[in-house]
Amino acid sequence: MKTIKVWDLFVRLSHWLIVLLVLSAWLSSEFGDAEFKWHSWNGYALFILVFSRLIWGFVGSTTALYRSFIKAPWDALSYLRDLLTGKTTPKEAHYIGHNPAGGWMALMLWLVLITQAVTGMFASDDVIFDGPFSFYISSKMVNNITSIHHALFNLLILLVILHVLAVLYHQIIKKEKLIQAMLTGKKTLSHAIAEPKLIFRPFYLALIIVASIGATFWFILKHYG
Ligand code: HEM
Ligand code: HEM
Repeated sequence: MKTIKVWDLFVRLSHWLIVLLVLSAWLSSEFGDAEFKWHSWNGYALFILVFSRLIWGFVGSTTALYRSFIKAPWDALSYLRDLLTGKTTPKEAHYIGHNPAGGWMALMLWLVLITQAVTGMFASDDVIFDGPFSFYISSKMVNNITSIHHALFNLLILLVILHVLAVLYHQIIKKEKLIQAMLTGKKTLSHAIAEPKLIFRPFYLALIIVASIGATFWFILKHYG
């Protein structure tokens, strides 16, 4: 057995911040202020964070890169089939980063989150709050987009439930310590797995990405929102 670092700080920090912000998005829509201030700023923060993680998929550390975890859809399906029929041995079941199905789930979660945030910016509650860019489109469009904003949240919850169930399955049944890995960044691998060559990018690079996207978004919001 050997313990190696697999997740960089930005992957871990962005994951747990996204979890908190999704919870806070729901809380703020249910119990927030009438002007939607908390809900809007929460949504902008989610947008900036998820956007930054999407960029990190091109320039970040090895395990954060799309090319290391986005496999052909049929590979993801056969991975799931082998897992469910018990065909996968524990050795094969252990991945350094995301497994083929987990990679697609991550991508879907990010895309739904980004779309949720963008639709929110065009949505309206028809009483007090209008999304900052809703003035650019017709009121019929605003109504449709607001309906999408509502419906998409249900899809997000469904995906999150599936995601957490999958993580718990690996954690409890397969005895892979995925949750600890998302917290500490480290995984213990059996010697049967070849030592991977992983490159880690510095955290400040991620901070530069977050700051650049944040500043650009702020500029657009201030001048065009
Ligand atoms: C709002 C709720 C959640 C969302 C939107 C979410 C989203 C995600 C995303 C997008 C990833 C990929 C991370 C990356 O590559 O940067 C991920 C991975 C992960 N999440 Fe979550 N997550 C949520 C809740 C949770 C919870 C409650 C747990 C703990 C039970 C959890 C445990 C994990 C673990 C262990 C991984 C790594 C999986 C692997 O090794 O492939 N997540 N999550
Ligand atoms: C990913 C980020 C976001 C999430 C997860 C989210 C989630 C939600 C949820 C759960 C609701 C309540 C839906 C219902 O009652 O069925 C809601 C409503 C709403 N959200 Fe968001 N939201 C996000 C971002 C935003 C942003 C950035 C804005 C605007 C700046 C926004 C504007 C609104 C408005 C105006 C409503 C009320 C619509 C109505 O009353 O019909 N949201 N959002």
